[in-house]
Amino acid sequence: MENIHPIFDSVLSRHDKEKLLRQKAMVLWLVGLSGSGKSTLARALEQALHERGFLTYLLDGDNLRSGLNKNLGFSEEDRLENIRRAAEAARLMLEGGLITICSFISPTASIRNMARVIIGKHDFYEIYVNAPLETCEERDVKGLYAKARQGEILNFTGVSSPFEAPENPFLEVRTDQQDVESCKKRILNALLPIVSQNR
Ligand code: ADX
Repeated sequence: MENIHPIFDSVLSRHDKEKLLRQKAMVLWLVGLSGSGKSTLARALEQALHERGFLTYLLDGDNLRSGLNKNLGFSEEDRLENIRRAAEAARLMLEGGLITICSFISPTASIRNMARVIIGKHDFYEIYVNAPLETCEERDVKGLYAKARQGEILNFTGVSSPFEAPENPFLEVRTDQQDVESCKKRILNALLPIVSQNR
């Protein structure tokens, strides 16, 4: 931080932005295996919030990894850096008053804890998008599990790289037991009272 002089306190505050947007900003952090339905749910949630007049932003692992994070792979170190940048980006969105939906495997408790610390525990809402590994593997939407089993992809989450289930998430949805619509509704019901605080 030598010779760096951030000016956070002299710019318009997050509160000013929230007032303008008539919403309470927050970060919704969707955690889960590849193929668990995070991105599908993230898109459905964003659409539902948008239709109700909320300003949102979607940060998705696959998208960020094709831009901001394109120099990162899937080693533990790179995943940590991937999530660090994503959380810092989400923090900026939060300061801008947006409801930010983040969709990242974020496989370990320590990775998620880092995100929580960067964003701040009061604004970090962890949602566990839970489908058993067998279900995700059966779906294999992107054909990546098959490749991982054949050894064509190394360090694949759930196959050759660890996934630690969140222990105390704000919410957990089971996408193998409920369809997208029901999962979306459950999350929305919990969120709407919070994000509507400035209305
Ligand atoms: S994270 O572990 O760093 O949080 P992130 O959510 O950004 O992962 O990216 C996961 C996406 O990258 C998966 O949905 C999948 O499409 C792709 N992917 C490619 N290689 C791997 C791998 N080894 N492990 C997990 N996902 C991978």
